[in-house]
Amino acid sequence: MDYSIETLALDKQQTDCIIIGIYENQQLPPSAAAVDELNQGLIQQLIKRGDIKGKNAETLLINHLPDSNIQRVLLVGLGEQDKLTAKLYRKALSASINVLKSLNIKSANCTLQEIELEQHDCQWKTRQIIEVFNDAVYLYQETKSSSDENSSASELNSVTIQTNDALKADTETALQQGIAIAHGINLTKRLADLPGNYCTPTYLAEQAQEIAAKQPKMSVEILEESDMQSLGMGSFLAVSRGSRQPAKLIVLNYQGGNADDKPVVLVGKGLTFDAGGISLKPGAGMDEMKYDMCGGASVLGTLQAAAEMQLEINLIGIVPSSENMPDGDANKPGDVITSMAGLTIEVLNTDAEGRLILCDALTYAKKFNPELVIDLATLTGACLVALGRVPSGLLGNDDELCNELIAAGETACDSVWRLPIWEEYQEQLKSNFADIANIGGRDAGTITAACFLSRFTEDFRWAHLDIAGTAWRSGGNNKGATGRPVPLLTQFLLNKANG
Ligand code: BES
Ligand code: MN
Ligand code: ZN
Repeated sequence: MDYSIETLALDKQQTDCIIIGIYENQQLPPSAAAVDELNQGLIQQLIKRGDIKGKNAETLLINHLPDSNIQRVLLVGLGEQDKLTAKLYRKALSASINVLKSLNIKSANCTLQEIELEQHDCQWKTRQIIEVFNDAVYLYQETKSSSDENSSASELNSVTIQTNDALKADTETALQQGIAIAHGINLTKRLADLPGNYCTPTYLAEQAQEIAAKQPKMSVEILEESDMQSLGMGSFLAVSRGSRQPAKLIVLNYQGGNADDKPVVLVGKGLTFDAGGISLKPGAGMDEMKYDMCGGASVLGTLQAAAEMQLEINLIGIVPSSENMPDGDANKPGDVITSMAGLTIEVLNTDAEGRLILCDALTYAKKFNPELVIDLATLTGACLVALGRVPSGLLGNDDELCNELIAAGETACDSVWRLPIWEEYQEQLKSNFADIANIGGRDAGTITAACFLSRFTEDFRWAHLDIAGTAWRSGGNNKGATGRPVPLLTQFLLNKANG
């Protein structure tokens, strides 16, 4: 999809459809009033007739406007003006794009930047228009042969965002940012949706190399199993030993800031398939464990977006990538392994593998002298039980960092909810045979997983995002990756770069 800016009057444009917001029982927003005027009060008549009330996400397509040059108008309800929120604004956007997708049209103009929303400027609205539209038109086709009636691509290929001269410069900036974020989200979704037999650790590493090759300020290093061996990454290697696919440690380095600025380090779990290992998972729904690399894919998507936005910060992305498979050579329950940090770990359940690859990656992060470290991982089913699919779980050792992430999540409509990692919980990780056990029992599974990671992050400011509930939609024909938490992380980095 092509996104650009438009400042021409509505009746001077060459577009197939103009999206116009209307409120419930209230005055017409400027574009609605303009179209009404150009067409002898048409909009007022339609409202009077009860064809559209303006309820949030209600839509009405006007196919023919005989009194003006306008081809089509899509009216979309915003709800009551004084009750409009960011979430309702997004719902109206999403209703609009879903109608447009189903029409046989190529281009559209969106006037919804003019809609006033407390605490949200034209840049936020511009980015949201692009992000919501981009999400709706994303289509996974890579492993399908040509004809599939249920998921044919829509004709729509160009969207213009209506603005005015005063806001043009700001809108231009936001347009570039929105496009970069949308690209990052698409990359993340695509990698996540690709099945495990395509998207292997080797494939992820190649993708990282491709991303870096396109960005002048980005470099990449791929560590092989032999390198991990020399570094003493016994925990990471224990997970991958049951797999025929070689593990990779992907390290992306984006130098957008000054040479001596400490980097933000993002670490993402890149399990390209999690069968559970010897602690094998049950069969039902196991296919979804191809998504266990969403953390890693989000790191790649976020770094690419940051580079495309040319953010003036230094950023490191670390993706430990492997499979977790049962095999005669796989690690076993009861095995004791030694992490790069020197801590020994008793593997009580081989299905708690995410923390085993992350702990060595987090130890490795230290060498970059980080300003802060954020890891993201589809780490625990318990996070779904606790928080469902609405916010990502947030845990960390630094209140300021956690609050910044909460604020960025609010702004980006990609929310997080903080859980505590109090020392009482650390008790659950005691082991009779090693320094620490890799599971903490049934209670508070998301917290004890973070407690485990916290043993490896004492030397820096750190936050952990458990994205098990938010990284993909489950079941039915709606199944697929969401691209979260790329919106949150890109907003966090935008705030850092601007602040
Ligand atoms: N990748 C899973 C977590 C997961 C489960 C993500 C369901 C999304 C949906 C992780 O590796 C795992 O298996 N965790 C175990 C931990 C347990 C053995 C302590 C879990 O959550 O059951
Ligand atoms: Mn697992
Ligand atoms: Zn896993």
